Amino acid sequence: MGAFTDASRVYLLDSLTLVKLGGSVITHKDSSPPTTNTEAISRVVRELKVRRGKLIVVLGGGAYGHQPAHQYGFGDPNTSKERLLAGIPSIRHNMALLSLEVDKAMQDEGIPGVVFSPFSSSQLHNGSIVAFPTGLIQTALEAGLIVITHGDVCFDDTTGASILSGDTILVYLAKELSAKSIYVGTDVDGVFEGDPKENHAARLVPVINRSNRRRVLLGVGSSRAEDVTGGMAKKVGELMKLEDNRPEIAVFNLCVPGRLESLLSGKPVVCTRITF
Ligand code: IPE
Repeated sequence: MGAFTDASRVYLLDSLTLVKLGGSVITHKDSSPPTTNTEAISRVVRELKVRRGKLIVVLGGGAYGHQPAHQYGFGDPNTSKERLLAGIPSIRHNMALLSLEVDKAMQDEGIPGVVFSPFSSSQLHNGSIVAFPTGLIQTALEAGLIVITHGDVCFDDTTGASILSGDTILVYLAKELSAKSIYVGTDVDGVFEGDPKENHAARLVPVINRSNRRRVLLGVGSSRAEDVTGGMAKKVGELMKLEDNRPEIAVFNLCVPGRLESLLSGKPVVCTRITF
């Protein structure tokens, strides 16, 4: 535990940081059957060690979540309730495996991580969270633990089951627990005017604020068919909901070693900052 035991003494005094580990970084997104990117997971977990305050790590689904979700028709409004419900076991199984792998990497580094799986304790209404174990998560943080949670499939009282994305969880917990900083790790440098994977001339937007946000949102590339939760445009839209809370927000490239560590240490980093 070493340094982390020392650091845990200041947890109660320190403010909350939320970090999203994008599924396209911690899994090989096009792998079938899905595989995890074990090297990236170990490196990212090592970078987390510089953090000294309370920390929640939210995992995206990547190949582990999006592949079975797509297979069972999540994201398609015409999919029957029966088919969505039939998809629950494989999505749950995959997300449990992925979260345990991150958990294991944390144990190996002496980081006191614990997994909270949304499926077992959350309820959705038309895709929105109506119940989430925020109180227990807060208790875990106050006990000096690092909370790991993840995008998941959850029961939904309108559709039967829906995908709860890591980004929705991030924004929900940031509001409920008044997070100070939110770092959203993706496989690109931030938010671009256009899709950087299709257009290499697309320019990074360093800051999204009141004056450019409409224009930026219109230009952000849409997501790929396999991504049932909406890609970058949805992500930025979700983060904009934090207007009243005004946390520090950065969307950054988690594939580049050192960027997460720099953000956590308050050093300058190539990224997109969202301000209000
Ligand atoms: C998706 O979560 C979760 C499932 C499909 C089960 P996210 O939407 O946050 O995942 P990524 O980061 O885009 O892969």
